[in-house]
Amino acid sequence: MEYRELYRMAKGALPHAYAPFSHFAVGAALLTESGEVFTGVNVENSSYGGTICAERTACVKAVSEGFRRFRALAVVSGEGKASPCGICRQFLYEFAPELIVITGSDEEHLEIRRLSELLPEGFRL
Ligand code: THU
Repeated sequence: MEYRELYRMAKGALPHAYAPFSHFAVGAALLTESGEVFTGVNVENSSYGGTICAERTACVKAVSEGFRRFRALAVVSGEGKASPCGICRQFLYEFAPELIVITGSDEEHLEIRRLSELLPEGFRL
């Protein structure tokens, strides 16, 4: 799948973001090695620490459906570019240290990085 298409799928998920506290909507689309795409959004909570980011939502959806091998992840925010937070980097590193991470303010200006670049020396047990 083309990176732009994955980016569009992340953008398509944005309306489902639940972000009444930060008003910062984030959408993610995670492509598995076998070609499935799992989307995710941030889901905030009145108890702020209970908030889950879009990237982890997508990853948890995939893993809970039996998919653990991932090729690429696109992330988009309603405000333009969003880059995965530290917790999400570590969370994804568990499954795919060489994941391709696609960000950018629009599909004409995509930034492509490896997760291992974004999280050098990620933790593995
Ligand atoms: N957020 C994400 O969902 N992904 C990111 O990459 C950065 C931050 C969410 C968490 C919170 O709901 C809101 O954006 C503001 O931090």
